[in-house]
Amino acid sequence: MVASTSADATLLIQAAIFHDIGYSETAMETGFHALDGARYLRSLGVEDQVVNLVAHHSCAALEAQERGLDKALLEFPSGPPALTDGLIFCDMTVSPDGLPVSVDDRISEILTRYGPDSVVGRFIARAEPELQAAVHRVALQLRHAGMEALAFASLRGDAPASPPT
Ligand SMILES: [Fe+2]
Repeated sequence: MVASTSADATLLIQAAIFHDIGYSETAMETGFHALDGARYLRSLGVEDQVVNLVAHHSCAALEAQERGLDKALLEFPSGPPALTDGLIFCDMTVSPDGLPVSVDDRISEILTRYGPDSVVGRFIARAEPELQAAVHRVALQLRHAGMEALAFASLRGDAPASPPT
């Protein structure tokens, strides 16, 4: 289960809210937002589990390799797989404008915005199999929990008005 306890749910919500804080001027240090965000949150005394989820959000270790910052990212251990999947789902099924999108559309938008030969473009191409797999794992859990419409939207991007009966 993505968040089997209320404590896990709280961690996931906090990580989802803060995961891109490394883009802010205040947090920016290396230019790698996952690492910068995690360091910034740690400096504020944010709970380690949230900091670690932010550091590794959405396969950030692969982007760290592209940027030559993989050793630096080792400052932070990976989070629990279920919460890591949950954070990928949150990141990869919402557009930059905050609208629900499918994981396919989200990845395509990132590739188009940055270009396939950019650091981010190379990273997202390498990360896509795991990003897709994580979204599918969470979607399956949503289906089992009766949230068929949300699961469908995350994979297809065109949520039905009401869940199929
Ligand atoms: Fe991010």
